Amino acid sequence: MSDSTAELTIEVHLTEEEWSDTISTDCVDGLTDDPKRLSPVWFYDEYGSQLFDDITRLPEYYPTRAEASLLVAHARQIVELSKADSLVELGSGTSDKTVHLLDALASAGRLARYVPFDVSGETVRSAADRLMAQYPDLVIHAVVGDFHRHLGEIPRGGRRLVAFLGGTLGNLGPEERGRFLFDLDCVMSSDDRLLLGVDLVKDPTTLVRAYDDRAGVTAAFNRNALSHINDRFGADFDPDAFEHVARWNDEEEWIEILLRATEAQTVDLGRLGAVVRIGKGEEIRTEISAKFTPERIQSELWDNGFVVEETWRADPGFLLVLAHPYC
Ligand code: SAH
Ligand code: TRP
Repeated sequence: MSDSTAELTIEVHLTEEEWSDTISTDCVDGLTDDPKRLSPVWFYDEYGSQLFDDITRLPEYYPTRAEASLLVAHARQIVELSKADSLVELGSGTSDKTVHLLDALASAGRLARYVPFDVSGETVRSAADRLMAQYPDLVIHAVVGDFHRHLGEIPRGGRRLVAFLGGTLGNLGPEERGRFLFDLDCVMSSDDRLLLGVDLVKDPTTLVRAYDDRAGVTAAFNRNALSHINDRFGADFDPDAFEHVARWNDEEEWIEILLRATEAQTVDLGRLGAVVRIGKGEEIRTEISAKFTPERIQSELWDNGFVVEETWRADPGFLLVLAHPYC
């Protein structure tokens, strides 16, 4: 008999069919649009998640280390200020950095529950298994859902610290970001706290290197989006016929990640029932990663119902923000 009192509930709000419909439509729409684009969801199959994990350890990719150092240094204060007794994490992925917050909640004697929330059921499951082994008393209430549609499914009760880390907010387009923050504000009570990790505007060389590393891991991660589409729908992309591009858009203040065709090609999208022609040099945008100034993130939060309570900053320019709904 084990003396573990850990509990695991996994609520699935996204059926495989629903998700499949959403991403199929998005794939055809994006690849027939001008300019072409793909949703970042294509990065994260099993191999892609492993590559992302490798990215977080690259010498050029500073955000994960910077954010982790802020959590190590300030988790206790974050927990004190928030008075939280449960932790909700949006886009939780492998929940690697989460342990710093869980430890601080546990040592304050207030760790009632952890709610990882991610579109990837497999990722959530394996993160939950790992945490259950690490924290024998932890109650995990996982939510498998899309944070654009299922924020209302976050379990209620207690004082919640809602973490949205890894600069994932910057991966949403400007309008999408506003809508997301507004919706999040609607499901949070004034006692809840939002902990946001955002990357800051800095010199373009440092930024571009973080998304175009020497070892080519990010390039492999980017091309894997095409292999994922091949696997899922029987499409016939040749990932090697695309080069990885990361560039700084100074006007929008975001990094653009693209795949540029090295030759003209016709791609059969298999079960998606479409054929797309891609010209030599034509680009498919696979991701944006917006960078912020402290003032801009504060004003975007304010515009969507949040007031900033405290910020912590690490070199070479990464910011943790603690905010709460103002009504
Ligand atoms: N928070 C982790 C992981 C970041 S990667 C970190 O800081 O390292 C982004 C994560 O967000 C992935 O696990 C991905 O599956 C998840 N994600 C992306 N779009 C999502 C959506 N619409 N709804 C919920 N989760 C999403
Ligand atoms: N949220 C991460 C970021 O914007 C995601 C990411 C890291 C990423 N490296 C990438 C996305 C490379 C696409 C390509 O930093």
